[in-house]
Amino acid sequence: MTEKYAEPLIGVDRYAVLGNPIAHSKSPLIHAEFAKQTNQNITYEAVLAPLDGFEATVRDLIKQGYKGANVTVPFKFEAYKICDSLSARVVSSGSGAVNTLTFLNNGKIHGDNTDGVGLRNDIVQNLGFSIVNKHILILGAGGAAHGILNSLVGASSIVIANRTHERALELVMGIQDCEARASTFESLEKPYDLIVNATSAGLTDTALPVPDIIFSKSSLAYEMMYGRETPFMTQARANGAQVADGLGMLVEQAAEAFYIWRGVRPQTAPVIAQLRNA
Ligand code: ATR
Repeated sequence: MTEKYAEPLIGVDRYAVLGNPIAHSKSPLIHAEFAKQTNQNITYEAVLAPLDGFEATVRDLIKQGYKGANVTVPFKFEAYKICDSLSARVVSSGSGAVNTLTFLNNGKIHGDNTDGVGLRNDIVQNLGFSIVNKHILILGAGGAAHGILNSLVGASSIVIANRTHERALELVMGIQDCEARASTFESLEKPYDLIVNATSAGLTDTALPVPDIIFSKSSLAYEMMYGRETPFMTQARANGAQVADGLGMLVEQAAEAFYIWRGVRPQTAPVIAQLRNA
């Protein structure tokens, strides 16, 4: 994390990730690797935005000539609000959240969200798991769950289970292109092909009250968090499911942001491997 912004360098395009907290962010490392791979002359740093000063921090970056920024917790909804234009996928998702800002030459801000495509690319390309015609269970109905719904195109059915049932019901109403229903954790009663944990329960090592029956040997259990073995992952593993954490999604959402800004697609596999070994 930089306390002071990087010195302006001639011919170098500057980017940043804004969050609070931000010191833990792996994004500067990921984007530095992408830049090295693709010979892009950029800098990318982590910037701590005050909780009540997100927009002011963005405006300051624009004034200094930055070309864009990623946005992480807790600012994705505020980021949406300050955009002058939005990508089609942000509009159609209805999630009201943005994680990639592009600062246009005319001073305007364009917003996109690469979380959904990041999850899909990790599941389909890296883990080799097809989503098409699959029965999908999403645990959680907060911002993270909302942000990935539009990436599950082709699924046969989606069930959303959440501690607070009303939030699950609300999310289900927005799903048009496949069969969808809301559930409680406890009343789940069959195995699913793909189970995504989009709750933040893992942060506090809390187990979700989901029955073992939701996992089978052919299930993929996907934890959106990374960096620790959560009770969800342990339970899925114990029931024979294939288990993945969100590290691949992190790198894939970054690759999509890099593509938006630079027009080149970096290779993600070496970067995922590097972070795993670190
Ligand atoms: P995020 O942006 O990470 O999704 P959020 O919008 O606050 O954050 O949503 C957190 C999600 O994790 C919600 O689905 C929340 O359940 P509620 O809607 O009932 O609050 C879920 N969650 C957090 N802690 C949990 C816990 N200990 N057990 C079960 N669900 C939990």
